[in-house]
Amino acid sequence: TGYTTLDGGFVNTASTSSAITYIDGEKGILRYRGYPIEQLAQQSSFLEVSYLLIYGELPSADQLSDFTYRIERHTMLHEDLKRFFDGFPRNAHPMPVLSSAANALSAYYQDSLDPNDPEQVEVSTIRLLAKLPTIAAYAYKKSVGQPFLYPDNSMTLVENFLRMTFGFPAEPYEVDPEVVKALDMLLILHADHEQNCSTSTVRLVGSSNANLFTSISGGINALWGPLHGGANQAVLEMLDDIKGQGLDVSDFIRKVKDKEDGVKLMGFGHRVYRNYDPRAAIVKKTAHDILDKLGARDELLEIAMKLEEAALTDDYFVDRKLYPNVDFYTGLIYRAMGFPTRMFTVMFALGRLPGWIAHWREMHADPTTKIGRPRQIYTGYTERDYTEVSAR
Ligand code: CMC
Repeated sequence: TGYTTLDGGFVNTASTSSAITYIDGEKGILRYRGYPIEQLAQQSSFLEVSYLLIYGELPSADQLSDFTYRIERHTMLHEDLKRFFDGFPRNAHPMPVLSSAANALSAYYQDSLDPNDPEQVEVSTIRLLAKLPTIAAYAYKKSVGQPFLYPDNSMTLVENFLRMTFGFPAEPYEVDPEVVKALDMLLILHADHEQNCSTSTVRLVGSSNANLFTSISGGINALWGPLHGGANQAVLEMLDDIKGQGLDVSDFIRKVKDKEDGVKLMGFGHRVYRNYDPRAAIVKKTAHDILDKLGARDELLEIAMKLEEAALTDDYFVDRKLYPNVDFYTGLIYRAMGFPTRMFTVMFALGRLPGWIAHWREMHADPTTKIGRPRQIYTGYTERDYTEVSAR
């Protein structure tokens, strides 16, 4: 009673104020802490961007090397936590494995759970940034039945992740600098996106004073949905279907427009962008570059380009201001790097982690924060009397 403002899906309601990420959806602008995404993608590194998002400023050389050192010292998982992976079926999707293991960190690292102790928050921040790539690599190794590799802290975080994912024990792993650079850039592009579904989830869980690990686990689960981070997997499946069934691109577009069986053009549309997603523009170029460099001519890239061209000139998409989003081309890059489709959303989670942490910390640092507790407009019965089961 008395609550008359309903905004399903938060289409026009701010859930918080924030100084982390700025988006102008009409103009297609994205900035982290004021820095344009295009500059960060070209000139920065994922760890530097993580620092920027979490602490608010670009690090000095000393601050960056200290931050990097602390992260690289924490990449190993507790041996018992390593065994946790054995309990999952081999064909498990790696996203629930990732979120479960992230949540399990709160059982293994009980000395860094207090959200009101800045030192503990700092330790859990470093632990998450260091350990999530190891967990992600183990989730992959589990799915292919291969042995886990311990992190090698003489390598950078991204190199180490690639080695733990694709390497084998007792075999040197040769890092391809082009792949490392492209992956680092993809992580930067995914690092934050203000109050999206998973970030809002992290904030809401954290607003109850739940610890950082468990709040991040909630974010990973929200990200898994195909309307959010799961879209990168859904795009590849859509492209595979079009190729496999020999569908004509214009027939597929017609199906989407007719909303036949609820078919959507995955990787298109965005709640905030009513213009080309600036991340998609960067990713599109990288997809071409990396596929050229790896010599991986991919028929799916050609289908994707035809879909994009058809959609951008079709009234259905033009009228609704539907443009490619970040997920439209990323899967093609991950695929060229050797990642199976089911790992794509895991890659998104690795990228989004510093953003989630930054938002959780921003919320806790604000003394006016209250527990998130939305109201509702009740549409159920008014009062009625209980009847005994025999009388129903
Ligand atoms: N294909 C076909 N029609 C679409 C699409 C699409 N991908 N996206 C939106 N529409 C239509 C929708 O059916 C509606 O049409 P109508 O006015 O006739 O009812 C209109 O466009 C407005 O869409 P909406 O669903 O009200 O928009 P929303 O802001 O609630 O949803 C979205 C945004 C991203 C969930 C949606 O565009 C979508 O489902 N896209 C496909 C999934 C996807 O690529 N998600 C990744 C988003 S970017 C990365 C991330 O956030 O994780």
